[in-house]
Amino acid sequence: MRIAPFRLERYFARYEFSTPYLLCSSDCESMELGDLLALEPGAGEQFNSLWLGYTDSCGDPQLRQAIALLYEQITADQVLVHAGAEEAIFNFMNVVLDPGDHVIVHAPYYQSLGEVARSIGAEVSEWRGDSECAWELDLGDLEELLTVRTRVVVVNFPHNPTGFLPAPEFIRELSALSDRHGFIIFSDEVYRGLEIDRGDRLPAFADVNERAVSLGVMSKTYGLAGLRIGWLATRDDDLSREFAAFKDYTTICNSAPSEFLAALALRQAETLVERNLRIIRDNLDRLDPFFHSHRELFAWYRPRAGSIAFPTLLRGKVDEFCADLLEKAGVLLLPGTLYGKGYNSFRIGFGRKNLPESLDKFEEYLRTSG
Ligand SMILES: Cc1ncc(COP(=O)(O)O)c(C=O)c1O
Repeated sequence: MRIAPFRLERYFARYEFSTPYLLCSSDCESMELGDLLALEPGAGEQFNSLWLGYTDSCGDPQLRQAIALLYEQITADQVLVHAGAEEAIFNFMNVVLDPGDHVIVHAPYYQSLGEVARSIGAEVSEWRGDSECAWELDLGDLEELLTVRTRVVVVNFPHNPTGFLPAPEFIRELSALSDRHGFIIFSDEVYRGLEIDRGDRLPAFADVNERAVSLGVMSKTYGLAGLRIGWLATRDDDLSREFAAFKDYTTICNSAPSEFLAALALRQAETLVERNLRIIRDNLDRLDPFFHSHRELFAWYRPRAGSIAFPTLLRGKVDEFCADLLEKAGVLLLPGTLYGKGYNSFRIGFGRKNLPESLDKFEEYLRTSG
């Protein structure tokens, strides 16, 4: 298999652990193992006596049960646990696509959502959000992109990197289009649960459409990226069986400690999500005045969900701007060009506790660089 380098991940590999002020992380603040175990009486003892043999290849039954509770229509046996969302994307694309198929991806996009399809020999078209209009997607644009070969439409709400979240009617209309045209909706929902206003939460696509596949993960909403636990959920049982069979060639089964901890975290989901939303709200309340006072330099949309946004740089080239900020102030932003050509925007993350410190450095840089 030949696959192009993952630009964003290579950038993080270079800077993530050597830069003092990370201001573009997409996940929420993580926690120490002891703090997670302390959320349930007796969890520490159970963790110490955990058996470290192979685990159930579809995922620990208790974990699958806890994941199923995030959905309305999905049962535990319709959940397949993977090593992070990344493995789940890889498996989905490899099971569903053949060379020559057509895939449409909500853009800009987290590269693997299109790149894996391309590596299989599928043709990938971009369904671009409108940068002039808070990154809105237009269903009319999607209809124009559809061909008889369109096998999959990939969407990502709340969206990485723009934070875009459509209205519920949009989901129903997209589902109806899928039924009419026969394509499968692959719905990357890794930021679901991070709606600033709970009433804005969209239904999961696996609940709305019988053939759709929802993707979830512990990394973003719950801040537990180091567990490397993600999942696919679908009511299409034939597809589920194919995913399970393919996984025998990637990880076979998951890490037992990670599955134990993920199940615990999901039982305590409300506590974890509330904590993360508090961080996000506080950070957004700092970002609003920051961007307002620099409105001649940046175009800012306050997202309704998620832990990232994609402000546009109004003067100069974003690559040069981000490189200079990194060099002079040690602040890491993610230039939009890592998502593709023509995005003179940058990703900013606001799920971490140290945002105030990083933003102060950013402010100081802007003040001193004139
Ligand atoms: C939209 C989206 N999908 C999938 C992933 C992969 O998640 P993980 O790293 O937890 O496997 C990410 C990670 O940044 C993401 O932003």
